[in-house]
Amino acid sequence: MKPRNLHTKIFLDSGIPTETQEMLQLLTFLDGQTTNPSLMAKNPVLSGKKFSKSELYDTYQKIATEISGLLPQGSVSLEVYADKDTSYEVMLEEGRKLNQWIPNAHIKLPITKVGLQVARTLVDEGVNVNMTLCFTQDQAAAVYQATTGAKRGQVYVSPFIGRLEDIGFSGMSLVFNIEQMYREEGDGHVMILAASIRSLEHLMLCLSRNIDIITAGSGVYKRWADQGCIVPDATYQHISDREAIPYTKDLLQNPSVDIQHNLTDTGLQRFADDWNNLLTL
Ligand code: G3P
Repeated sequence: MKPRNLHTKIFLDSGIPTETQEMLQLLTFLDGQTTNPSLMAKNPVLSGKKFSKSELYDTYQKIATEISGLLPQGSVSLEVYADKDTSYEVMLEEGRKLNQWIPNAHIKLPITKVGLQVARTLVDEGVNVNMTLCFTQDQAAAVYQATTGAKRGQVYVSPFIGRLEDIGFSGMSLVFNIEQMYREEGDGHVMILAASIRSLEHLMLCLSRNIDIITAGSGVYKRWADQGCIVPDATYQHISDREAIPYTKDLLQNPSVDIQHNLTDTGLQRFADDWNNLLTL
């Protein structure tokens, strides 16, 4: 049963519908699911095989439809294919296409110059977006600025905790900085979706601070269920040997124009490579 003191939405990070079913059985609830090209590529229907472009998109659509059907009240994030050269027009067309597949989509777009332009257009068309590969407070401020006027729930920003930890920084400190910035300076239209969760500790910290949404793989939720799905209170300590990222004040009023981050660039390329590996040449 959903814990009564749980204020964070719980999403599954997976491209495999049987995992959705398994988590629904284990937790008895799920508020949504996030996918990305790498997670989709791990689906047994796709993994290790080769497809024409149209076959690949047909299969992607079938998987998305299946997940959506399992979570009719939830949100399902579907990511556009993008690499560093993908144009505004191509990304926009793909975002519109994915959005027609299912009624409860959040279209995942990278936090790049083009991704933010596409987000502006899609939000104006009433489409939900999930801005992914977020590694800096500047990027989160840029998402906020690019989507002003959106309804709460229409826009998610996905800070990647684990990948920052991989390079020695506290990913949780970024999540807390974004939360503080939106709470103190914003109007609440962007929701934080904590992603790249690698441990029960990350999950506990997000729950204890009432972060809007968390997405994690089934392994983390199994460990959480083993502990009775407890929700720690705000006194839960954040102890990390990684370097804390300092908070920048007044960033929403004075956003930086530089939103580039190496992990965004390499993350985009990794997603593109995993997707392209499924294509016949
Ligand atoms: O939700 C984003 C996630 O799938 C990325 O996780 O472990 O590849 O950094 P990871």
